[in-house]
Amino acid sequence: MSSTLFRTKNVEQSIQDTEEPEHALKKSLSALDLTVFGVGVIIGTGIFVLTGTAAKNTAGPAVSLSFVMAGAVCALAALCYAEFASTVPVAGSAYTFSYASLGELPAWTIGWDLVLELALGTAVVAVGWSGYIHSLLDNWGWHLPEALGGRDGATGFGFDILAAALVLLLTAILVVGMKVSARVTSVVVGIKVAVVLIVIIAGAFFVKGANYDPFIPKEQPTTAGGSLKAPLVQLMFGWAPSHFGVMGIFTAASVVFFAFIGFDVVATAAEETRNPQRDVPRGILGSLVICTALYVAVSIVVTGMQKYSSLSVEAPLADAFKTTGHPWFAGLISFGAAVGLTTVCMILLLGQSRVFFAMSRDGLLPRFFSQTHPKFRTPYRSTILLGVVIAVVAGFTSLSELAELVNIGTLFAFAVVALSVIILRRTRPDLPRAFRTPLVPLVPVLSVLASLWLMLNLPAETWLRFAIWMLIGFVVYFLYGRSHSRLALRGHTPAGQPPRPPA
Ligand code: ALA
Repeated sequence: MSSTLFRTKNVEQSIQDTEEPEHALKKSLSALDLTVFGVGVIIGTGIFVLTGTAAKNTAGPAVSLSFVMAGAVCALAALCYAEFASTVPVAGSAYTFSYASLGELPAWTIGWDLVLELALGTAVVAVGWSGYIHSLLDNWGWHLPEALGGRDGATGFGFDILAAALVLLLTAILVVGMKVSARVTSVVVGIKVAVVLIVIIAGAFFVKGANYDPFIPKEQPTTAGGSLKAPLVQLMFGWAPSHFGVMGIFTAASVVFFAFIGFDVVATAAEETRNPQRDVPRGILGSLVICTALYVAVSIVVTGMQKYSSLSVEAPLADAFKTTGHPWFAGLISFGAAVGLTTVCMILLLGQSRVFFAMSRDGLLPRFFSQTHPKFRTPYRSTILLGVVIAVVAGFTSLSELAELVNIGTLFAFAVVALSVIILRRTRPDLPRAFRTPLVPLVPVLSVLASLWLMLNLPAETWLRFAIWMLIGFVVYFLYGRSHSRLALRGHTPAGQPPRPPA
């Protein structure tokens, strides 16, 4: 039994599958498209919202160090993703990589785990987007009925109609085609980056040195929310739950990590790239470098404009300008955030539909969902199914605290991908690798440890939710995927062996 659980799908087989006409995706993206895609999905709720929460509650002005830390964890992971994406340019990202190296059960586990990052992430950002739109509408004097404003504001029934509508609209755009989505994305990314640059440049004039003092606020004990709210690492070592201080920088890093999520999604579009071996690593690393630089600059400026303890937790960037007496800038930033969050949602949804598509093409989910559209050549069935489910989830749930669940799911995938790089180097040294992770196994090992460290800094209750979700995944695999796997039906290559020659 264990040999079938760890049956691997060889890389050649994965690439061959992408060539079946009925299940093939259109190759239309360039390195620039991918970088724009990357920036389009990375800059979002994290920088526009979480910067305030993390600075005010956990790290103070040292939140900029948290961004550096989270960026470093992502850089290590990005080097591993880049090698994989250049070796296995097949839709599905971490799922596909682990199928090629670790085997079927770990791959299923990752595919299931990615739902947390991609589907739940889409819903979290859609709810954040609807919050910004509500505040803009309120400014103009238009008020939606409370019951249609989402769970947070409603006392009884609450359905966030704006969040659900956004997800459905984006679903339609994705069904029509990748090239259209890339065009929409580049316009939005332009607006978003311009707004971030305005925050940095205009904001720099309002920075007061006194706001940086103390840069790392003194550690304070906390009892809020009971022990399940404390980072797991504090419970494990019996430390008294606290915030701020040096540990606060780590805790904040595990929260603002959300701001970096998305560079890995670039890898899910590998199969739709014209020259994936060269362009996917460029897209991944390029977008990560650009965003890290912008984030560190924004967090330094914003904590310099306003005392960390007075920062807003809903719209910190816009509100920092309001307090300096520039509401016009604040309106512009809210507008940019609202526009910018749409592409984050769209690309997370795109990534989720591609992972689902890959799992369905492999038979681990019903094959019905991996038929591509006869005209648009997009995986329309999985896109529509997921779009509708996510729209309902986004409409009915209050998701602010679930952002941490998105983080743990993503960090887990990072750790597995890094491990897979080491394994595939051993089992298939012969494969052509257009991009090679430097210093293997040191960089992947550091990547695993860094991801684990951030995971440990997440609250214990996030771990509990994560464990429950993964358990459900195991049940689904043993009830469906294991017996329907295409690899099971056509025989598999034992790990570590070159593929069989075609019959
Ligand atoms: N990185 C994305 C954001 O911050 C998910 O919204």
